[in-house]
Amino acid sequence: MATAPYIVVGGGQAGLQVCDSLRKFGYEGELLLIGEEPVLPYQRPPLSKHYLGGDLDAARLSFRPASHYEKLGIALRLGVRVTAIDRERREVVCSDGSRLAYARLALTTGTRVRPLSCPGAEHPAVRYVRTLADSDGLRAALGDARRLVVVGGGFIGLEVAAVARKQGKDVVVIEALDRLMARAVSPQISNYYATLHRGHGVDLRLATGVTAIEPAVSGVRVLTDRDEACEADVVVVGIGVVANDELAAAAGLACRNGIVVDECARTSDPLLVAAGDCTMHMNGFLGRELRLESVQNAVDQARVAAGTMCDQPEPYVQVPWFWSDQYDVKLQMAGIGMPCEESVLRGDPAAGSFSYFYFRDGRLCGADSVNRPADHMACRRLLAQGTMITPAQVGDEGVDLMQIARG
Ligand code: APR
Repeated sequence: MATAPYIVVGGGQAGLQVCDSLRKFGYEGELLLIGEEPVLPYQRPPLSKHYLGGDLDAARLSFRPASHYEKLGIALRLGVRVTAIDRERREVVCSDGSRLAYARLALTTGTRVRPLSCPGAEHPAVRYVRTLADSDGLRAALGDARRLVVVGGGFIGLEVAAVARKQGKDVVVIEALDRLMARAVSPQISNYYATLHRGHGVDLRLATGVTAIEPAVSGVRVLTDRDEACEADVVVVGIGVVANDELAAAAGLACRNGIVVDECARTSDPLLVAAGDCTMHMNGFLGRELRLESVQNAVDQARVAAGTMCDQPEPYVQVPWFWSDQYDVKLQMAGIGMPCEESVLRGDPAAGSFSYFYFRDGRLCGADSVNRPADHMACRRLLAQGTMITPAQVGDEGVDLMQIARG
């Protein structure tokens, strides 16, 4: 009897990486990638940055051309959703009615946007940015728009705001908390970005909630809990994402704000692994469980998952890193800096090139770098090696951090 294929559910960055890594680990059997979106796996980060701004065309978003999948013997089923996993029969059930047997299964189902829940939130002027289709729709809508309201001062909202300001739109950003990107960065970085956006003409409203969206004569009116009304042609909502773990949960796998996996990407079923944004994973670097939304995690954890599928399990121990591009400013984040006990400045915010290094329990735990890639790279290396470094050393520009990292 022929062996059933390995199936990967989810055609994002992690899904493609599982497939590529399976071949690198020497898996020679049948391999099938099932993706709900009707296009080849593509990079999501540019959707709220250069692609939205029209500086990058769709063809360059794809990770790989169709020939790559042929060459590696990766069969694709795109535009198809897996609706159930029958673990007893070792089959997946698809939206086109087919049932496909698997020998092993990788779940790389990612996340979806958290919807705005106030009255009027379903108005067609209200948009999100997660998929290529979302970004295409927003790009077209922004074409004629003059006034944009962004709900959420996180990465998505601020990147979209920067693109729209470059296009000369009027932009209001409404953020529920009292500072920007609070989930990921320190108050110092939040403040720097508030000044940056205001300096570019963004009307930034912090500590403000949206209470309703009403149709207006032209476009909509966004009402806030400070009794303000903002007129808009387009509203972009970027208030976070939720893990797509329902498929796994319905199949009886342990889920807790994501599919629970161990340090080798194993779910509670030994035949099933999971990787990427959808996992609540044991992170060897941090020594605790968490869910990460990042390219780094998608790639590194997918490699681990592929190794496990090939019976070559290696624990996932990687330094998390992230980035965001807003205007001409590159923010790079290494480690998990928050919460911290001490933050140390290196460089000069007034010159637009600086980092904050963070210390927890007396040890370096992360850094946020603004237009300062060398600090970012040094921090990643210092963290990966667990090199001891003091606040005084990172604060002294005369100290070459990379040299210390190199030993
Ligand atoms: N009104 C206004 N702001 C809100 C509301 C609300 N009802 N709810 C949440 N927010 C704010 C949060 O306080 C936070 O600042 O929205 C912001 C969401 O920021 P993120 O958590 O960074 O999420 P988002 O910007 O949507 O990005 C989602 O896409 O690019 C990736 O790395 C990014 O993984 C992230 C994902």
